[in-house]
Amino acid sequence: MEELKIFLDTANLPQIRRLNQMGVVDGVTTNPTLVAKEQGDFEEIISAICKEVKGDVSAEVVSTEFDGMVSEARHLSNIAKNVVVKMPVIPEGLRATKAVSQMGIRVNMTLVFSANQGLRAAKAGASFVSPFIGRLDDIGQRGMELVEDLVKIRDNYKNLRFEVLVGSIRHPQHVLEAAKVGAVIATMPPEVLEKMVQHPLTDSGLKRFLEDWERSKKPKASIPV
Ligand code: E4P
Repeated sequence: MEELKIFLDTANLPQIRRLNQMGVVDGVTTNPTLVAKEQGDFEEIISAICKEVKGDVSAEVVSTEFDGMVSEARHLSNIAKNVVVKMPVIPEGLRATKAVSQMGIRVNMTLVFSANQGLRAAKAGASFVSPFIGRLDDIGQRGMELVEDLVKIRDNYKNLRFEVLVGSIRHPQHVLEAAKVGAVIATMPPEVLEKMVQHPLTDSGLKRFLEDWERSKKPKASIPV
């Protein structure tokens, strides 16, 4: 296994900046819904995120037919070197993925809800395959099962060089499970990233340590020279 990467699933620059300063952001994913929540021009938002974050930044096409998808992909990939073009896993998207990946444009195939969709995305040349686990959980299917299948498929074949990018993460348990099954990337809302380190016993434990320290008025040990 290569490594586990943590991506932020947001187009909000201040939040990306704040968490990036903590050194935990390996990349960013956006989608039309996330971009629509922000003020300003789409390309300017993507360009600013790409300057802030060194890793991959996914920007999604909104065309649904081949020519439009290819032209948007070419345009978006020119914004910055770290742009990855997101395409929906529909027949035209698969065709466009094959075409643009041959031009050297990296594609993140999105809205993946079945292993067969993931397989087709990988065969089309997608660099990233994004299963949406929270949305599957919402309809009573185990989203993590899809991640397990995709990781297994990737590990089975040397010619399929895609990374499983787990999306639609709703809580820290999703991140943990994704790491356990060997997904390379987990993309999550900023709140989930923050919740990953929160624990009431850490807070109460630290409070007690500091209170005990204050109470004892123990001077700090001097370091011998
Ligand atoms: C992934 O790349 C998507 O942007 C995202 O994770 C969708 O998540 P949602 O189901 O919370 O909208």
